[in-house]
Amino acid sequence: MDLLHAEPVVGAHLIQMDFTSDDAPGKLQEMLNSHKADVVMSDMAANTTGMHDIDHLRIMGLLEMAYDFALQVLNKGGVFVAKIFQGGTENAFLAQMKKDFETVKHAKPDASRKDSSEMYVVAMGFKGVKQQNNNSTEF
Ligand SMILES: C[S@@+](CC[C@H](N)C(=O)[O-])C[C@H]1O[C@@H](n2cnc3c(N)ncnc32)[C@H](O)[C@@H]1O
Repeated sequence: MDLLHAEPVVGAHLIQMDFTSDDAPGKLQEMLNSHKADVVMSDMAANTTGMHDIDHLRIMGLLEMAYDFALQVLNKGGVFVAKIFQGGTENAFLAQMKKDFETVKHAKPDASRKDSSEMYVVAMGFKGVKQQNNNSTEF
């Protein structure tokens, strides 16, 4: 899913849509055919303004939405990979991820500019969603 048109990729289903729109998560779930996902990956980033704090908050907003979606659709043991933009608020977020996944690592691929605050978070081993079942709690 991307706001912009993308050229076809063999074996991939592409949709041009705003992930923040109300119907976007449902559209992706429909494409999953009610199956759970092994991996949720987001490279979403709003256009940068050059104002670091604003760019940080905008990217982190997209990251949080992608994360909420991942919690709904990931299989237990699943993986979440996403772009983050260092700037302060990521620490609380990473702390939450460490509760939801077995391991959380950072990666800065060679393709990412050295002077950019961008990096990627790779969370592996999703622990599963807490299910409320009468008075008991199951994982
Ligand atoms: C860093 S680019 C990565 C694009 C693609 N992954 C690639 O490698 O060519 C970030 C992408 O996030 C997309 N994007 C930003 N906000 C979005 C949103 N709300 N919904 C869907 N895509 C969004 C942009 O259109 C842009 O293509």
